[in-house]
Amino acid sequence: MPGAILVIDQGTTSTRAIVFGPDAVPVASAQEEFPQHFPRAGWVEHDPKDLLRTSLSTARIAMARAEEAGFTVAALGIANQRETALVWDRRTGAAIHRAVVWQDRRTAGACADLKREGAEALVQNRAGLLLDPYFSATKAAWMLDDVEGARARAARGELLFGTVDSFLLWHLTDGAVHATDATNASRTALYDIRRGAWDEDLCRLFRVPAAMLPEVKDCAAEFGTVAARHLGRPLPVLGIAGDQQAALIGQACFEPGMVKATFGTGAFVLLNTGAEPVRSTHRLLTTVAYQLEGRRTYALEGSIFSAGATVQWLRDGLQLVRSSAETGDLAADSDPGQPVYLVPAFVGLGAPHWNAEARATITGLTRGSGRREIARAALESTAFQTRDLVDAMRADDSSDAARAAVIRADGGMSASDFTMQSVADMIDAPVDRPAVLETTALGAGYLAGQRCGLYPAPAEFARSWKLERRFSPEMTPARRDAKLAGWRDAVARTVLARD
Ligand code: G3P
Repeated sequence: MPGAILVIDQGTTSTRAIVFGPDAVPVASAQEEFPQHFPRAGWVEHDPKDLLRTSLSTARIAMARAEEAGFTVAALGIANQRETALVWDRRTGAAIHRAVVWQDRRTAGACADLKREGAEALVQNRAGLLLDPYFSATKAAWMLDDVEGARARAARGELLFGTVDSFLLWHLTDGAVHATDATNASRTALYDIRRGAWDEDLCRLFRVPAAMLPEVKDCAAEFGTVAARHLGRPLPVLGIAGDQQAALIGQACFEPGMVKATFGTGAFVLLNTGAEPVRSTHRLLTTVAYQLEGRRTYALEGSIFSAGATVQWLRDGLQLVRSSAETGDLAADSDPGQPVYLVPAFVGLGAPHWNAEARATITGLTRGSGRREIARAALESTAFQTRDLVDAMRADDSSDAARAAVIRADGGMSASDFTMQSVADMIDAPVDRPAVLETTALGAGYLAGQRCGLYPAPAEFARSWKLERRFSPEMTPARRDAKLAGWRDAVARTVLARD
């Protein structure tokens, strides 16, 4: 029977399991949503049991479907929502608190205090990150402080910390393995991305004991074996990557200068910068793109917190459209003479502004403005934000490759032709949409499949990447400049309104 790879893609709103066949094409899948908990304004939590339960249930279904279709699953790969922090008991596996999700803003005050103390330079130099509640370290410290007795238990070595991949791995291996990969480690703010090791100074700064941290491995490595009771038989775990890095791999962006953008709930743009980390002077993040055979490749990353989430708000909050797809039709019908802008700072603004306090605004409304103009403003906000990131990337990495970069797009919102065309128009460069849009799962599957010899080396895998459609810039420079000026004015008003 042909060999296949099972991938668990544990995301922010749902968990998916996908099985890839010998030619790295999906052959079976399953998906399950799970509850989001918002105990206070700006707080976002997941029940760790839901993360584990949906990972197992979707994996069992996808695996059964693949095996019915005649494939033999040989290994497991994991891709996961990043930065989300968990702390659990080393003996029982029970989490001491619900997972504090990457979107959670509860540690904004702690980050502001550290910034005032002048700690951001250390965080940027060692971890490649900035002081923002987005990253895991302040979330872990918050749990240790808030849960009664947790600091003392951590000091006695009774508690473990991990991102979602580590938590799943620990449970799938019945507590035998506490490990992570270098991409996930690079999102904690505790990891020295140059040395490739946990950093004592950062652990001290954020007050997270180093003894709680997982072992950091390559992205393709022997991570341990899933105990037989979970999936019906033992299965080696051979690949792990944070979901955005997994998408970079799934998009075969293995050369410096290659860029991928995943347009999901948020949007994450990663530029491969090669073997040397590039320190951003434009408020981007420096992160590990992947680590293979002990060698790290780095990326510059721009993170936008609301992309598809803005369309969801039109649908579920305003009830302006019945389906997300309708938004594109409305936008295409809008009056081009109406300069309406939506700055989607629903949970603050990410890169390059990093303003946790900003809140969303709509500017330029007149009595003539309607659903169509708001729909267009919502979709175009993703294009404008992408342009802001690309500008920052081009300024940080002035190599010819980075300047000429074509963006490889994926994620749910990449299905919107209107949005992809707007992105191409705003960045004044082509946007390529691939035939296989399951790039996140494909990336983790590729890691595991390459490790067990099912898939070829990166260069050959890259040749199998197929274009579905290229969106080329069509807008005149004058029109683009006018629109960008309007966007920048709207962002300035949004940020000023909270200052
Ligand atoms: O950094 C957050 C990112 O990993 C979340 O991705 O696809 O789960 O929304 P997603």
